[in-house]
Amino acid sequence: MSRITVLYDEETIVKRIREMAEEINRDYNGEPVLVVGVLKGGVFFTCDLVKRLTLPVTMDFVSVSSYGSGTKSTGFLKFKKDVDEDVSGRHVLIAEDIIDSGRTLTMLRKVFEEHGAKSVKTAVLLDKPARREIKDARVEYTGFVIPDSFVVGYGLDFDQKYRNLPYIGVIEEE
Ligand code: IMP
Ligand code: MG
Repeated sequence: MSRITVLYDEETIVKRIREMAEEINRDYNGEPVLVVGVLKGGVFFTCDLVKRLTLPVTMDFVSVSSYGSGTKSTGFLKFKKDVDEDVSGRHVLIAEDIIDSGRTLTMLRKVFEEHGAKSVKTAVLLDKPARREIKDARVEYTGFVIPDSFVVGYGLDFDQKYRNLPYIGVIEEE
């Protein structure tokens, strides 16, 4: 059995996402943006975010696994699902559930930049800075900075479970 303690309830999460969307709307100033959600964890956040964007939005998704090479940002990224859209000349906004080591987002950004994106920015719902390995990993929009504990819900899983919880909670194994 595991116990889950609520960290952020649904209302708090949605309120914060609304603020993030307002900031993004201001920054992009009416420019079209290609929002790339990272499957599966980033799906809830991506959907809640794009609903509040007043920019011309195109949505796409990737599914990736990153293989580390120590603390270097030049690790290997395997696409289980690549983008359908051509990113060249587009403003790409990556939407992800959490930044942890920083590998996934750093490598994704690099790939989109190499494919000629006009700009690449990153929005994450959660940031766990204590576990960062890529020290210069960049995130433009952050929902909540959390301590070093394992969280589930709102897309985040433990062994593929708990993604559907409408809140974010800390999981403790008993
Ligand atoms: P990283 O930044 O490349 O280490 O990758 C972050 C990924 O690790 C996220 O997309 C999540 O899938 C997973 N992850 C990291 N911390 C947690 C957590 O606390 N709960 C659930 N998944 C996590
Ligand atoms: Mg993930």
